[in-house]
Amino acid sequence: MWTIFYTIALIASITEAIPRTDVTVSGLSSGGAMTAQLHLVFSSTISGSGILAGPPYYCAQGSSTRVDTCLYGPVTLIPVEKLISQLQSYVSAGTADPTSNLKNDPVYIFSGRFDPVVFPDVVKLNEKIFSSFGTNIKTNYKMRATHGFITDNFGGLCEFPDLEYFINNCSFNLAYDVLNHIFGGNLTKPTKPVPLTGQFVAIEQPAFMNPESINTTDLKNTNIFSYWANWLKTSTTTYKSSFQLRTFKLPDLTGISSIGASGFDKEGYVYYPTNCTKGKKCPIHVALHGCLQGKWRIGDVFAKKTGYLEVAELNNIIILFPQIVATHTDPSNPEGCWDWWGYGSPNYANKLGTQMAGVKKMIDSLRAINAALDA
Ligand SMILES: *[C@@H]1O[C@H](CO)[C@@H](O)[C@H](O)[C@H]1NC(C)=O
Ligand SMILES: *[C@@H]1O[C@H](CO)[C@@H](O)[C@H](O)[C@H]1NC(C)=O
Ligand SMILES: *[C@@H]1O[C@H](CO)[C@@H](O)[C@H](O)[C@H]1NC(C)=O
Ligand SMILES: *[C@@H]1O[C@H](CO)[C@@H](O)[C@H](O)[C@H]1NC(C)=O
Repeated sequence: MWTIFYTIALIASITEAIPRTDVTVSGLSSGGAMTAQLHLVFSSTISGSGILAGPPYYCAQGSSTRVDTCLYGPVTLIPVEKLISQLQSYVSAGTADPTSNLKNDPVYIFSGRFDPVVFPDVVKLNEKIFSSFGTNIKTNYKMRATHGFITDNFGGLCEFPDLEYFINNCSFNLAYDVLNHIFGGNLTKPTKPVPLTGQFVAIEQPAFMNPESINTTDLKNTNIFSYWANWLKTSTTTYKSSFQLRTFKLPDLTGISSIGASGFDKEGYVYYPTNCTKGKKCPIHVALHGCLQGKWRIGDVFAKKTGYLEVAELNNIIILFPQIVATHTDPSNPEGCWDWWGYGSPNYANKLGTQMAGVKKMIDSLRAINAALDA
C-alpha cells in the first residue's frame, strides 16, 4: 500500500515538474487572439501558447462594434475583469476546461513597439489575463517592430508594415524564441539553413475535422488514421534543401468537401519533421496565420517563411497550419481573419464555436495519427 502511495506521489511530482508540451499553439494578430481563445478554453489539451500581436480574450464581447477598441484602445475601455469572468462562466457551463489547468503553462506574448494595427497597450492586456491564472509568461515588447511575423531572414524592413506577407526581417527568430519558451528553454536553434527533409503535406481540413464520416470500406482491415500514418511512413522524399521543399497531398478517400459557413478553407498544411514519420514520438504545435495571411491570399508563405519549419525539423515538433478563407457573405470575413469577435458563431470564444471545435478536431486527428505511427 505504501509502495502504491509513493508511486502515485512520485508520478504526481514528475508530471508536475515536467510541463506537458504534447499540444501547444501560437499565432499572429487574429491568429494571436485565436491562440488565446484556444489555450484558455481547451486548457486540458493545450498547455502552452504564443500570442503575437493579438487582442486579448473575448475583448470584442461578441460585437463587431468593439473591434476598433480591441485594436487601438483606449485600454481603459477594455474591461479585463469582465473578460475573465466570461471565461469563468464558460467553465461553469462546461464549455471551457477548468482554468486550474493553466497553472504554470508557458505563455509568450509579443508586441512590436511600432505596431499600428494592434496597439502594444492592448496586446499587453493578455499578460493581465494569463497572469491571473498563474501561467509562466515571457514577454517581448521592446523590438522596434511593426505589425507582422518577425524573422531573421525573410520579409520587409522591421519597422514598416509589409503589406504583401506581413512578415518582417528584424534579425530575430521569433518562431524559435516562442517555441523555445513553450518547450522549456532547451530547443536547438537553427544557425544555418536547415534541410527540410520531412513531409510538408496539404490536408483536407473537412476530412480532418470529420474523420468519422470518411468512407473506409476500401481500406479493408485498417482505419483512416492507420492509413494516413502508413502513407506518411512509406512515402519518401528526396529533397535535400529547404528550397526544394515540396507540398504533398495526404490522400483523401472521401467526398467530404463542405464545411459550411465555418470560415475554414478546404486545405491546411502540416509539417512532419523527418524523424516524426519514423517512429519518434513528436509533440504537436498549431501555428495560426493572421488576417490577409491565409492560403487563399499568400499560399504557403506563412507556413514556409516564418521560421517554424526549421525549428520543428531540428526539434521534432509536428506543426499544423490550419487555414481560414476570405468570404464576403455568410460569414462576412473579407480579410480571412480567425473569429475573435463573433462573425461566425456566438460561441466563438468557447468550445462550441465552429472554428474552436474545428481546430480541436484537427488536433485530435493528428493525435490519432501519432498513435497509429507509434503502433
Ligand atoms: C535582414 O535584415 C538585416 C538587418 O537589416 C540585413 O542585414 C539582412 O541582410 C536581412 N536579411 C534578409 C534575408 O533580407
Ligand atoms: C528538453 O527537455 C525536456 C525535458 O527534459 C525533454 O523532454 C525534451 O526532449 C528536451 N528537448 C530537446 C530538444 O532537447
Ligand atoms: C463506401 O465505399 C464503397 C466502396 O467504394 C461503396 O460501395 C459504398 O457505397 C460507399 N458507402 C457510402 C455510404 O458512400
Ligand atoms: C533524427 O534521427 C537521426 C537518426 O536516428 C538522428 O541522427 C538525428 O539526430 C535525429 N534528429 C533529431 C532532430 O532528433
